[in-house]
Amino acid sequence: MKHLTRMMYVSRVSGGVGDDELKQILESSRRKNKTLNVTGVLCGGGGHFIQVLEGEQDDLFRLYGEILNDRRHYDSVLIGVASIKQRLFGGWSMGYLSNPPEMMEVRRKELIAAWEGRLEGSELLRLMKRFLEQLGQGSL
Ligand SMILES: Cc1cc2nc3c(=O)[nH]c(=O)nc-3n(C[C@H](O)[C@H](O)[C@H](O)COP(=O)(O)O)c2cc1C
Repeated sequence: MKHLTRMMYVSRVSGGVGDDELKQILESSRRKNKTLNVTGVLCGGGGHFIQVLEGEQDDLFRLYGEILNDRRHYDSVLIGVASIKQRLFGGWSMGYLSNPPEMMEVRRKELIAAWEGRLEGSELLRLMKRFLEQLGQGSL
């Protein structure tokens, strides 16, 4: 059985990771995600990453395992995993949004608070949805 899945995590950017490293991350992500039919968006700013990934559950979990071991970021917190009917980022093998540091700080705190509070699935989904809606406020 195939399970279309969306997951979101937050992490901190490792020291020494700058524009060149980010470019490399995006290049390899776009290449590999295309072959896996994974889509999503990576948000960066203020030393934080927030990433949303969509794809078949098995592929996503395997990929997330690799991403977790990547030393270009650390302190990763898995905010949520949801079964979905359709993708939000179908056109993006991996979009990138650069957001102001203050916005990333607030979002990270909000998402982690929700995760620590063991929100009901539906509440967490609402929060994720709000976050996704607000993504549009960043610059592409
Ligand atoms: C914040 C962050 C996000 C990443 N996102 C992806 C991704 O969406 N897809 C991907 O293939 N690799 C991603 N990577 C890179 C992987 O950790 C890893 O380097 C890559 O999957 C290895 O690809 P390879 O099999 O071509 O060596 C990400 C790395 C970081 C630090």
